[in-house]
Amino acid sequence: MNSVIKNIYERKSVRKFLEKQISDDDIKSIVEAGIQAPSGHNAQSVYYTIVQNEDLIDHMNLKAKEEMRKSDEDWILKFGSNERYHVLHKAPTVIIVSASQEAYSPVEDSSAAIENMMLAATSLGIGAVWVGLIDHYFKLDESRKKLNLKDGYKPYFAVCLGYENPEKVFNKPKRNMDVYEWIR
Ligand SMILES: Cc1cc2nc3c(=O)[nH]c(=O)nc-3n(C[C@H](O)[C@H](O)[C@H](O)COP(=O)(O)O)c2cc1C
Repeated sequence: MNSVIKNIYERKSVRKFLEKQISDDDIKSIVEAGIQAPSGHNAQSVYYTIVQNEDLIDHMNLKAKEEMRKSDEDWILKFGSNERYHVLHKAPTVIIVSASQEAYSPVEDSSAAIENMMLAATSLGIGAVWVGLIDHYFKLDESRKKLNLKDGYKPYFAVCLGYENPEKVFNKPKRNMDVYEWIR
């Protein structure tokens, strides 16, 4: 197996982090790997907001959970009501991924960028998890100001980054490999 494919296999969601911060150089490498992702019509629509303010990260968690507790969906309600659950997993770095609303495929562009970032993080020994639930915070008007979001850009996801806590390591869920066929 070559090193790129090995890295793809090694990537997993990390949700338990050490407090230790990642270096700016590593964050630059991760974000710049995101920038290398493909985008529909080459729109290069994605914008990255790197949040390292612990108070803001905790604030987003609390506000998102407040919204989640109003959900009609049982599983979202449960996460929102679980005191031990942190939407952003108390990560030391959170990258908010937004994309231009003028782009042809902003969600797909964001998703491609996120996978590139997670693979880059894995290759650097840094843990990462893609967080969709943070959209409960993005629904709030205050989020645009707090996150200094650019006009015309919509936030879609967050990527949490940090060093995995070696005392709380979780394995990646096993894959069902029986999901492809050839037509020749
Ligand atoms: C669109 C999307 C949204 C996700 N949202 C969350 C989330 O809000 N919180 C979380 O902990 N993990 C989230 N994940 C991570 C998935 O739960 C994870 O990728 C899946 O369980 C498979 O585990 P693995 O990443 O370790 O292979 C999300 C993944 C994707 C692709």
